[in-house]
Amino acid sequence: MNTVLFAIGAYLIGSISFAVVVSKCFRLADPRSYGSKNPGATNVLRSGNKKAAILTLLGDGAKGFVAVWLVKHFGPAYGVHENGVALVAIAVFLGHLWPIFFRFVGGKGVATALGVLLALNGWLGLATLITWLVIAYAFRYSSLAALIASIFAPFYYGLMFGPDVILLAVLAMSILLVYRHSKNIGNLLAGKESRLGSKKK
Ligand code: G3P
Repeated sequence: MNTVLFAIGAYLIGSISFAVVVSKCFRLADPRSYGSKNPGATNVLRSGNKKAAILTLLGDGAKGFVAVWLVKHFGPAYGVHENGVALVAIAVFLGHLWPIFFRFVGGKGVATALGVLLALNGWLGLATLITWLVIAYAFRYSSLAALIASIFAPFYYGLMFGPDVILLAVLAMSILLVYRHSKNIGNLLAGKESRLGSKKK
């Protein structure tokens, strides 16, 4: 029962769409109305407001981190262990993808997944972040960086900790993240994907 309560809490935290909230605070257009129409940091960057994009990235990342951190630190006292951590990781991610507060229209999960990975293990998060940065720097596509980093993340986890229930959660996040990038994959293959730093259309 406590595991379910932690998971519901994580889903609700994940449902806070920082792209929408931050854009409102900065009086910017709703990110669901321009560019890729994705409520995420990359699309907020297309508004031209870097501060808003960074705050979106930090907010969406922090919610993933906080949800997992809370269950890791307070879960054991309530009989919530590894299975609960795995469930919370998925739940906060699902909240971001299908947020209850925003008619279930959410983002692609990159920042939130990174926050989750950093809370699961700092080195795991760092390795995944470095993978994202290297690909983003080399190719200037946020989506490509996210796709490659998300493919590597389960391998990093497996190498560090071996197979367990949390690896399943990391794998599930990766699969969902790739699925949410279907349009980006099509654009990348067609040479139509917009590069990092290009403005909104
Ligand atoms: O963070 C999402 C990113 O990987 C792609 O975003 O707006 O280019 O679809 P976007």
